[in-house]
Amino acid sequence: MADATDLDPGERLGPAELRALQLERLRASLRHAYVNVPFYRASFDKAGVHPDDCRGLGDLARFPFTTKADLRENYPYGMFAVPRERIRRIHASSGTTGRPTVVGYTEADLSMWADMVARSIRAAGGRPGNTVHVAYGYGLFTGGLGAHYGAERLGCTVVPASGGMTARQVQLIQDLRPGIIMVTPSYMLTLLDEFERQGVDPRGTSLRVGVFGAEPWTERMREEIEERFAIDAVDIYGLSEVIGPGVAQECVETKDGLHIWEDHFYPEIVDPVSGEVLPEGEEGELVFTSLTKEAMPVIRYRTRDLTRLLPGTARVFRRMRKVTGRSDDMVILRGVNLFPTQIEEIVLRTPGVAPHFQLRLTREGRLDALTVRAEARPGATAEDRDAAARTITAAVKDGIGVSVGVEIVEPESLERSVGKIRRIVDERPRES
Ligand code: DLL
Repeated sequence: MADATDLDPGERLGPAELRALQLERLRASLRHAYVNVPFYRASFDKAGVHPDDCRGLGDLARFPFTTKADLRENYPYGMFAVPRERIRRIHASSGTTGRPTVVGYTEADLSMWADMVARSIRAAGGRPGNTVHVAYGYGLFTGGLGAHYGAERLGCTVVPASGGMTARQVQLIQDLRPGIIMVTPSYMLTLLDEFERQGVDPRGTSLRVGVFGAEPWTERMREEIEERFAIDAVDIYGLSEVIGPGVAQECVETKDGLHIWEDHFYPEIVDPVSGEVLPEGEEGELVFTSLTKEAMPVIRYRTRDLTRLLPGTARVFRRMRKVTGRSDDMVILRGVNLFPTQIEEIVLRTPGVAPHFQLRLTREGRLDALTVRAEARPGATAEDRDAAARTITAAVKDGIGVSVGVEIVEPESLERSVGKIRRIVDERPRES
């Protein structure tokens, strides 16, 4: 448990005080959305609910959901609850299809966000005076600037490296001697290759903590990164629609899932199909309601991320398990549901293969087929590769219950990530 003097006032609340604060803020947030955003007024009216109907936290379940499609339909500024002149910053998420989603922040929103990222970095083991290397991309993506202002808020020295120019990143880490790195786990692996290419021992750097997020990653990946870099690797979660990075963070002393900063972001877990709220501990889709956001309040926003809620440990706030995956990334293969994280667990424990893999989806006749492409470790012999292919095939069959193809490809042949990695390459013919 962190020393109480290290905690901010929100983290020092007792459970009853926290629930009371959440209810008060929830009621205000519902009212703010209803009064100032025509979309929410229409959707509450249609569902026959009014902000005054929220008398307890459980009443939130009576309010309608908000989806990414709703944000797209109101592009660009239709979801904003304040006049455009009060918006200090815009971010956007790169929509894979069609329009991006735009999000906006008032001055108070930016300040709250910086506070939450500062709280996150502190939970990861960062302290004022530390140097933080930020290798999340800067720009419309919330990763770079979100991490940046949070680290400054905590009182750290920030190196705004952004993503890319990998050789230079290694140089900066050696010269500026950061203690903390904030980056996607997949780009951390790209950095690892570069350290090795330059003949620099990745275990010998000044880095002691990595704050990894923006994409799903597994306990196996944690072990790999911690071992190869001799650092503590902790998970940070967030999404632009809710604020950006710093919605939830794992504490370095427990590494037992991510505490949701629920004095600002209220979580629910729902059944992804029926939308029913699930009891605490069950896996389902994570849904967020913002409690204090001004520019763009979100009410019951469907994240599509699958996880479960657990009671607090190192903090009063509830935890979420590491995200299994997004419902959009779930592959259904002959009736079996499969997530890239399940393949990651298997590939990373298979001798002879590097932690780089891709999933190729094709169609054979009327059935979908999946091929796992994993990279051989440098120096792996033909026998090692055959053995690795057999191990992966058997582990997928036994563990997930479906047959997949496995190709062990040459070292360094798969595309490397500089930000969020794309695991699935979908080569199925487009439905016409
Ligand atoms: O990825 C914000 C972020 C930046 C989080 C840097 C952490 C670090 P978006 O681009 O809007 O925002 O993407 C949000 O990324 O719904 C999840 O599917 C995924 N995601 C984010 N963090 C994690 C994580 C940023 N720790 C989407 N584990 C989310 C698994 C994550 N998935």
